Amino acid sequence: MSSEKIWVFDTTLRDGEQVPGCQLNTQEKIEIAKQLETLGVDIIEAGFPISSPGDFQSVRAISKAVQYPIICGLTRAVEKDIDVAADALKYAKRPRIHTGIGASDFHIKHKFKSSREAVIERGVRAVKHAKKYVEDVEFYAEDAGRADNEFLARMIEAVIAAGATVVNIPDTTGYCLPHQYGAKIKYLKDNVSNIDKAIISVHCHNDLGMATANTIAGIINGARQVEVTINGIGERAGNTSLEEVAMVLKTHKMGYETRINTTKIYPLSMLVSKMMRMPIQPNKAIVGKNAFAHSSGIHQDGVLKHRDNYEIIAPESVGVPTNSIILTARSGRHALKYHLERLGYEQTAQELSATYDRFLVMADGKKDVTDDDLLNLMAGKVVTGKIELDHLQVTCGESLTPTATVHLKMGDEVKKASAIGNGPFNAACIAIDRILEEQIDLEDYLIQSSINRSYDTAKVHVKVSNHNKSYVGFGVHTDIVTASVYAYLNAINKITALTVNIPEAEVVEEVAKA
Ligand code: KIV
Ligand code: ZN
Repeated sequence: MSSEKIWVFDTTLRDGEQVPGCQLNTQEKIEIAKQLETLGVDIIEAGFPISSPGDFQSVRAISKAVQYPIICGLTRAVEKDIDVAADALKYAKRPRIHTGIGASDFHIKHKFKSSREAVIERGVRAVKHAKKYVEDVEFYAEDAGRADNEFLARMIEAVIAAGATVVNIPDTTGYCLPHQYGAKIKYLKDNVSNIDKAIISVHCHNDLGMATANTIAGIINGARQVEVTINGIGERAGNTSLEEVAMVLKTHKMGYETRINTTKIYPLSMLVSKMMRMPIQPNKAIVGKNAFAHSSGIHQDGVLKHRDNYEIIAPESVGVPTNSIILTARSGRHALKYHLERLGYEQTAQELSATYDRFLVMADGKKDVTDDDLLNLMAGKVVTGKIELDHLQVTCGESLTPTATVHLKMGDEVKKASAIGNGPFNAACIAIDRILEEQIDLEDYLIQSSINRSYDTAKVHVKVSNHNKSYVGFGVHTDIVTASVYAYLNAINKITALTVNIPEAEVVEEVAKA
């Protein structure tokens, strides 16, 4: 049976980039656009050219840098927007203008202070104006999710008659349930007389966690283009995530196909998360840190017997490095044996029993156990979260030199150092590096607040590197410098190369006490 093509329209660089704090410069956008091309997306929405000179420049630069995908620029149903978008797209090999206006009575009344007939007329004028510049014009009926279907059908029929080649039916507020959204697409298929002249596109937001389900319901009911973002980033709760839709279609073999090379998904997800400073929730489908991690003994055992017992997607098929089973203190002997053999250690039952006891001591002090940890375990090094903050004092202020004094508890010993830096956290990092006699580079730093009445906590994520390997850490405290130092130490405790500095006996003892 031949499959029907689903066009993948990626809007990471437009709807995704609208998220506060996620803004990218032109160079970064070009890098992501090139990776989207390699991933196999059909259309890249590169920006909203009239919104800023930066967006204009980016759309132009991406148009030059990318060969295969259609490059799309967003506009309102405003002539000036369309003129500027056409200019930004002038170097695109395959340009598309994406114009539109509100379709729900909420938007018509409260956003446009207009009438149903007037918005249809504005939409039609916008499409005709865009057609003067490009053949490929997509029309969006904003807030179509809450629009009256009969009115929506009239609007869509009018813009197709005006030349729209793609009609986008956004669930802008993420309001619809899958059966409602599917029925809306079916209604348009059945009631718009010229619908065969355009591709129906689905653009769903995730406010109720329905974005992927709604997108799939749209496809089942006749949509042939999906508007998605990497990692599902986007306004508020985000947009439909590309990786979820691509893997639903691949896993369920529903008779649809995309051009997505799914093995490129994970690396691009990492790139977008890093560049946009947007951490991925660990349990995020397909690309979350735990998406393929089986940590309970029963699941690990089941996966080792046959992967299909607990895995519906092979991690390699989305580019996740293999060996994603994470060992934890709850892992059984069977899982430990499997991973040791994989790393080349054959053990007798007696040896395994002794190794397992040492493994449990190590795993107790860590959240998860990696290959490096196992290699250290077998080399007689103990790898645990054992460097603790014993004392931290900082001075800083407008006319003061930032200074930090740090005491670290390492095994039974407490080591101390002071340093100055360009800020209190920097001073504390320098002091810590001094104690450890190691060069640790802070690669990335993210602080978020969680305001909880009078208890305001700072959540800090850091990424550090040591000997060309990266480690991430997390810390939380009401004091931002303390939270930052916790995160730094959390990452440092994962640097296995450091463990050799700590006498094994002391460390084991300390873990045992904990
Ligand atoms: O969510 C939405 O309605 C949009 C349109 C501008 C396409 O992003
Ligand atoms: Zn949107």
